[in-house]
Amino acid sequence: MTRILFVCLGNICRSPTAEGVLRARAQKAGLKLVVDSCGTGGWHAGEPPHPPAVQAAKRRGYDLSPLRARQITPADFTAFDHILVMDRRNLADARDMKPKGGTEPQLFLHYAPAFGLDIADPWYSGDFDGVLDMIEAASDGLIATLSR
Ligand code: 4NP
Repeated sequence: MTRILFVCLGNICRSPTAEGVLRARAQKAGLKLVVDSCGTGGWHAGEPPHPPAVQAAKRRGYDLSPLRARQITPADFTAFDHILVMDRRNLADARDMKPKGGTEPQLFLHYAPAFGLDIADPWYSGDFDGVLDMIEAASDGLIATLSR
């Protein structure tokens, strides 16, 4: 089974949203995946996702409420087949943490290139619906790639 890890900065907005969205859409598509998420930072470890992110996801039918934040570990780079990050800062940070031979981190919007490179941090922008639009498109792109 393919194992997917999403990475953002705090693991309370973008990557838990991606975890919930991909899990639901892959299940709907009949694709079996292991999906997890984490942050490059550990400030929010143990916390549920940010309430506005939970509410925006809920309006589209995704339940993020059981998820809890954690920080990335070196073991993640061998435990997951795809490490998908939300922006170029996450990419640089994750590359710095990657042990030799570990899975190379990749920008998630690689799977929805029309949106650009970065899923901007809604912690600052407040644009949780824009984040969901990008994450839904990239999830479907990833599912299409993995289903080939
Ligand atoms: P996320 O958003 O990386 O999408 O989870 C953030 C959440 C918290 C912080 C930064 C980004 N923070 O600095 O606490």
